[in-house]
Amino acid sequence: MSDPIPVCDYEGSDYRARFWQNQGRDYEDRAERVALRRLMPPGGDTLLDIGAGFGRLAGEYSGYRRVVLFDYSRSLLREARERWGDDPRFLYVAGNWYNLPFVDGLFETLVQVRTLHHAADPPALFDELARVARADAAYVLEFASKHNVKAMLRYWLRRQTWSPFDPEPVEFVALNYDFHPDWIRAQLVAAGFAPGDMLTVSHFRLGPLKSLAPTGLLVALDSAAQRTGRWWQLSPSVFVRSRLVRPQSPPGGGFFACPTCHLSLGEPRDGLLVCANPACGRRWRVEDGLYDFKEPV
Ligand SMILES: C[S@@+](CC[C@H](N)C(=O)[O-])C[C@H]1O[C@@H](n2cnc3c(N)ncnc32)[C@H](O)[C@@H]1O
Repeated sequence: MSDPIPVCDYEGSDYRARFWQNQGRDYEDRAERVALRRLMPPGGDTLLDIGAGFGRLAGEYSGYRRVVLFDYSRSLLREARERWGDDPRFLYVAGNWYNLPFVDGLFETLVQVRTLHHAADPPALFDELARVARADAAYVLEFASKHNVKAMLRYWLRRQTWSPFDPEPVEFVALNYDFHPDWIRAQLVAAGFAPGDMLTVSHFRLGPLKSLAPTGLLVALDSAAQRTGRWWQLSPSVFVRSRLVRPQSPPGGGFFACPTCHLSLGEPRDGLLVCANPACGRRWRVEDGLYDFKEPV
């Protein structure tokens, strides 16, 4: 049996306080929202946010009928629920993105921001996303790009050993990867997606610049520069919108599926979702509004 793909575990992390709250990242947050609004269809039926964390971007999904905030960290999802719990359109689902607990062909839109850098196996992830995406689904992916100006300068000045021009991913810290845009495009195609519009984001992610210039001005400049992403990508963050083009059967009904054998699961009973496949029979907990597919009960 092959080893499981390693996961970067945020359970119990103070990600929100440590990274976003009063941490001088308003510029990045706002620039990312500009790119997301440009690429994401504004509304629709079902949306999956993969690695949603504490639900930072959940306010962007107001045009969707049903929104799944999916993450490996139960604690971050509980934070998301504290913030968005009154909105019945949201579902909070814990699990591993390599084994998604959904039926085939379910989602019309998929969004993934600031999480791919933790993926040790993007091809396996993209395959799994293609499984749960509807025919013609939109997939908006943000990834950390190794092909950026700062990495190039550091490489030429011999301050870093890895080349930003090498297409292979670089793991600069354990379970933290930067990717080359060409490599990402090739993996999306291999999984059955057709990558389309690309936007470059966070061109001005420099501490001194952020403290000198008003955030609104930097966001406006970034917004103008984002469109250059269709010709060249030199920023640390890149957004790409793809469409699922591989053949996909129409959704066969159901919503949750056993993440192990993919059989559609019925409604929860007594706080459990039970896989009816006699060869599987795994049971998954539903507690305090959290669908927990991390480990079977
Ligand atoms: C840097 S945070 C980004 C959160 C959110 N997308 C945002 O932009 O604020 C990365 C998230 O990816 C999640 N994650 C990492 N590996 C995962 C996996 N294998 N399955 C599901 N979520 C995962 C982590 O739990 C964490 O919440």
